[in-house]
Amino acid sequence: MTAMDKYAVFGNPIKHSKSPLIHSLFARQCDQDMSYRAVRVELEGFARAARSFFDNGGSGLNVTLPFKQDASEFADRLSERATRAAAVNTLTRAEDGSVAGDNTDGIGLVRDMVANLGWRISDQRVLILGAGGAVRGALEPLMRERPAALLIVNRTADRAAELAELFSDIAPLEGGGYERIGTRQFDLVINASSAGLSGEMTPLPSSVLTERSCCYDMVYGPEPTPFMRWAAHHTAWAVADGLGMLVEQAAQSFYIWRKLRPETRSVISHLRQVMEAA
Ligand code: ATR
Repeated sequence: MTAMDKYAVFGNPIKHSKSPLIHSLFARQCDQDMSYRAVRVELEGFARAARSFFDNGGSGLNVTLPFKQDASEFADRLSERATRAAAVNTLTRAEDGSVAGDNTDGIGLVRDMVANLGWRISDQRVLILGAGGAVRGALEPLMRERPAALLIVNRTADRAAELAELFSDIAPLEGGGYERIGTRQFDLVINASSAGLSGEMTPLPSSVLTERSCCYDMVYGPEPTPFMRWAAHHTAWAVADGLGMLVEQAAQSFYIWRKLRPETRSVISHLRQVMEAA
């Protein structure tokens, strides 16, 4: 009898991770014999814990905050996306025992917007709020969709300008402070600032939206975020949170590991129900 393939997510904190539930739903749906557990790793202990996981026969790891950069250093090789992002959320052990690193966050974001929500990115004017790790991880797949224009604005203007510089060989993009928005309008506004986590909403001019604008918050929760409330109040055409992105990034990891693409719609609605019932 062969042992069950072992997977896990490493993070700190990890208690509220939805990844074990998502992957167990994928495994059941695709009839895969695998285990997936959430592991809280000590802040300085990522490399040791990951080494021990793979040495003990682990097949793959998801990596969440604050270890995505540690994971990119741990991997023996990185996909182009992960190199660009300098962050890894998926580690996979190859036949020869080496470990490959990838980043599925951006693909998850794009797939949720395009396939699930039916939004367009190509030829659209896109505004991103925030310039932290979440944006860096998502930029490459987003830019590959060829938006008409891409502006990143951030409280610390220099961080947005640095990101724009770093990704400028893929397509033209701009980065700076919120004042850069001025009177410009955008078809798609993506919030990746963590301001909302403390209930704050970065002041945005309402003129930024047209009646066809879509607004996406990378954060999710049982209640609409301050950004989502702002967007609804200013009559955005469509508003969504990041639950679909969470499931889609997991689906891409699952695909890397099992070479099977799970159906995600039912998983997203199951999670929504669980979250709202909690
Ligand atoms: P993540 O990995 O979620 O992107 P992060 O790297 O800590 O986390 O980035 C958080 C982002 O939210 C940053 O863009 C941060 O702006 P700064 O670069 O100026 O710190 C932004 N952010 C956090 N609190 C904010 C607030 N109160 N107002 C505006 N932006 C805020």
